[in-house]
Amino acid sequence: MYAALRSIGAYVPKNVLTNADLEKMVDTSDEWITKRTGIKTRFIADKDESTSDLGLKAALKAIERANIKKDAIDLLICATISPDYFCMPSTACMIAKKLGIANIPAFDISAACSGFIYALASAKAFVESGMAKNVLIIGAEKLSAIVDFTDRTTCILFGDGAGAAIVSATENQSEAIIDINIAADGRYYDYLITPGCGTNKPCSQEVLKEKECFIKMKGNETFKVAVKTLTNDVVEILKKNNIAGQDIDHFIPHQANYRILNAVANALDLNPHQVVMTVSKYGNTSSASIPMAMNEIYEEGRLQYGDLMLLDAFGGGFTWGSALVPFAGR
Ligand code: UT7
Repeated sequence: MYAALRSIGAYVPKNVLTNADLEKMVDTSDEWITKRTGIKTRFIADKDESTSDLGLKAALKAIERANIKKDAIDLLICATISPDYFCMPSTACMIAKKLGIANIPAFDISAACSGFIYALASAKAFVESGMAKNVLIIGAEKLSAIVDFTDRTTCILFGDGAGAAIVSATENQSEAIIDINIAADGRYYDYLITPGCGTNKPCSQEVLKEKECFIKMKGNETFKVAVKTLTNDVVEILKKNNIAGQDIDHFIPHQANYRILNAVANALDLNPHQVVMTVSKYGNTSSASIPMAMNEIYEEGRLQYGDLMLLDAFGGGFTWGSALVPFAGR
């Protein structure tokens, strides 16, 4: 059995946060944000909307588009760094409950911005080993709940949203996910971190006062490692599979910063029409960014059955991953 990506769906919350809005909140400017990141807007979930609500809406679209019944799903994986609940239950369990699915395995993956590719790799392994036939994978984030809106170095970057896909068993090799590479290097653990409220530094008045339950980032240092790692990763996966950059229909990188995306696309000598860029609209939505970008070109009618996608992600941990995936949806 091979594993095929059968469908894509996404959900974007309705509240838009513009650079002009942020100018009123912190010492920043539309000019700085645009020049350094390419971001113009990001979307923010309602107060009573949790990560599982976002994930649920994306999942419903992916299930409908895969043309399968909910009961056919035999594994649910949710990648997130902004779970509904701190330790338990998992956001995957909450989404399963809201979908009305029980008695199947459901678990979360914590791999930050690489989470969707980690989930895809897990789904592929479960399907190829015969342990699952239809896997629902989700990348969902309510990052606005873990961002300090007084910290101009991070609050301008992140947004909320969710993307989901169905990965199914197939005997048709031409539909199969070709290859996935995932990796991590924990030596950089403190470059992107929420320092407080874990067992390393349990929640306390001090932790709350220092705002250590929010995302902290060594932005410039992360930027440099991100460009190098993302580039090496895609060069390697293409070489390993004897595929040229020109053979890729859609390069869908994690949407962190347009300067990072441009640097990687230039290193691969890709044409602008091959590169999917949604960062200006959605900002950085961590594990949701790749499936949201994939959904964007699907809804624009640009993603067709058989198109070859190259996915590439990098995030906290550090974690990273790349994947060569033909689109097997309709
Ligand atoms: O998603 C996971 C992976 N994430 C990434 O890959 C993100 C990687 N990092 C980045 O995208 C960029 O490093 C940032 C967009 C976060 C920052 O851009 P930068 O060009 O690396 O700027 P910087 O951090 O070196 O800061 C340059 C200056 C500093 O001022 P001084 O020290 O030069 O006076 C900052 O204080 O810009 C200042 N600054 C700001 N100014 C206006 C930082 N944030 C802002 C802001 N508005 N929002």
